[in-house]
Amino acid sequence: MSDISLSGITKMYGSFAAVQGVSLKVEQGELVTILGPSGSGKTTLLSLIAGLIQPTSGDIHIGGRDVTHLPSGQRNVGLVFQSYALFPHMTVFNNVAFPLKVRNYSSKEIEKTVPEALRTVRLEHLAERKPSQLSGGQQQRVALARAFVFQPDILLLDEPLAALDRKLREEVQVELRELQRNLNITTVLVTHDQEEALSLSDRIMVLDDGRIQQIGSPEEVYLRPANRFVADFLGTANFLTGSVHKAHGNWLMRLDSGVTVPCSPPPGPSEGQRCMIIRPEKLALQPSGEAGPKGAVRDAIYLGQTVKYVLDSEIGEGLVSVASPEPRYQVGESVTLQWKPSDTWFVDQSAA
Ligand SMILES: Nc1ncnc2c1ncn2[C@@H]1O[C@H](COP(=O)(O)OP(=O)(O)OP(=O)(O)O)[C@@H](O)[C@H]1O
Ligand SMILES: [Mg+2]
Repeated sequence: MSDISLSGITKMYGSFAAVQGVSLKVEQGELVTILGPSGSGKTTLLSLIAGLIQPTSGDIHIGGRDVTHLPSGQRNVGLVFQSYALFPHMTVFNNVAFPLKVRNYSSKEIEKTVPEALRTVRLEHLAERKPSQLSGGQQQRVALARAFVFQPDILLLDEPLAALDRKLREEVQVELRELQRNLNITTVLVTHDQEEALSLSDRIMVLDDGRIQQIGSPEEVYLRPANRFVADFLGTANFLTGSVHKAHGNWLMRLDSGVTVPCSPPPGPSEGQRCMIIRPEKLALQPSGEAGPKGAVRDAIYLGQTVKYVLDSEIGEGLVSVASPEPRYQVGESVTLQWKPSDTWFVDQSAA
């Protein structure tokens, strides 16, 4: 049983802070994703948990034990790196056996444990192959098997699926999630792919410039982003800015363009300048002439199950609506924009 606790972790390189004041608790069996753009400090944070580098300040506990100053080898962590370097000259079996040999398992234990791990990732039939004779997804699964074969307390995965094409990545995502649940292993996964983060995680930590922007469930960070950065980084968001006020019992936002639109009750001080977001799937289109802001279809992109509309409107240029393919609006067609006030959300104008 192992939870992970980071408190006040900072990592300086000279005067540059790669990670700043990060505190995070990952519960036993939980899968937390670190999501952020390139250079935001994701790998640095994972390396700190793994013990590959030392924090400048703050401390790290794994399973209640202070590991801040313990070397990596004494932390019992399973690691999959950003590039899943398998040993090219070793068979699949020997790749997976490697961490056991390092830990002085007997050959009898190895003969028993490795096939079990390979079965878990459905590769037992390929045990004698070399990595070069495997597909990318199969190599990825060998790397995973090698990371959990020795029953680590925690699993740390740095962009483990980044090298895979979309279809395979989605398949391995599902497998990874099942594996993680079945082993009930506390896991931190790094990704810069927001869909991967939303679909895999119990909770997501959004990182930018080495600082936590938000920690929450996938629904929380997507529908109730803490700030403009999170709203923007997780999918598409339509931003409307203006001043809010209450009239006849309803909350309204008077946009900078002069148009007044419905909004939800704002948090905190009730009146004043605000930034509100509407997610594309919450922005509905109606035929022109209906009540609501007027717009025109600039672009209509067919995506199979949905159509993505790019709209120019009296409330903003380049707004995005995602709707079912029926009814279909044509490029150039006039439309009315509608949304439920309860589907809007206010964000801070600035990042945290
Ligand atoms: N050893 C180092 N010395 C100096 N700066 C470093 C060092 N390692 C990382 N950095 C810097 O710290 C910042 C965070 O790097 P990190 O590798 O954690 O980013 P990342 O979020 O994993 O990015 P990516 O998505 O590209 O992998 C970057 O600006 C990087 O240049
Ligand atoms: Mg990285």
